[in-house]
Amino acid sequence: MVIVVGSQKGGVGKTTIATNLAAWLVKKGSDVLLVDADDQGSAADFTAWREANLDQCGYTLVQLTGSNVRKQIEALKPKYDHIVIDTGGRDTTSQRAAMFVCDIYLSPFAPRSYDLWTVTKVATLVDEIQAGREPFAAYSFLSRADIKSADNREVSLALQDYSQLTFLPFPISNRKAFANSASKGLAVFEMEEPDKKAVAELDALFNHIIHGNVITTTAQKATV
Ligand SMILES: Nc1ncnc2c1ncn2[C@@H]1O[C@H](COP(=O)(O)OP(=O)(O)OP(=O)(O)O)[C@@H](O)[C@H]1O
Ligand SMILES: [Mg+2]
Repeated sequence: MVIVVGSQKGGVGKTTIATNLAAWLVKKGSDVLLVDADDQGSAADFTAWREANLDQCGYTLVQLTGSNVRKQIEALKPKYDHIVIDTGGRDTTSQRAAMFVCDIYLSPFAPRSYDLWTVTKVATLVDEIQAGREPFAAYSFLSRADIKSADNREVSLALQDYSQLTFLPFPISNRKAFANSASKGLAVFEMEEPDKKAVAELDALFNHIIHGNVITTTAQKATV
């Protein structure tokens, strides 16, 4: 499957989710390509730290930008079980190009920086892309969620109003483990003493995305 992690806002946890998802799929035995389609190159930085800390990175990384992303992914798709694409926090040509070839679009929203304008922009973008291709699954979920807060509930309810994005009730909380592991190029479950709650949150979200009720448009040779 081709999974795009995207948004219209910076710092909501896209790269954290994309890199953890790539490592999670590798752990499950899949052949994975991680695409850094953000000019900031954060997924590439993560991978460089990873290569310095692990004997084997486990996945292949490429950096792609612009409309080229679409053709490149189409060509690379048959070669991998899963392709995870990290995009920037703006409406870029790269993000649109990636959305044209994705099976799943995954959009994180951070409760503290949540605003209706951003989610409306994401929903409109999904509508535009859906109109130009066969249907793909588009999901929203809470990222960097407060561990104890009424904000989570309010934002969860607000996100459920958007039919373009199916809200997944599997939040990823704001936990030090995510930032600490990222600075080493590791997924949370690859740390020496993993934060079990963080690991459980990722498992719940990723299991739903990969094994749940998703629209699949191509035959999959996935091992997970
Ligand atoms: N669940 C989390 N808990 C704690 N810290 C987090 C979490 N998710 C992300 N962070 C931290 O927040 C910062 C931004 O995260 P990240 O780089 O994943 O966001 P992004 O959406 O990719 O940002 P950008 O739009 O700039 O690409 C990083 O320092 C990261 O370590
Ligand atoms: Mg990023």
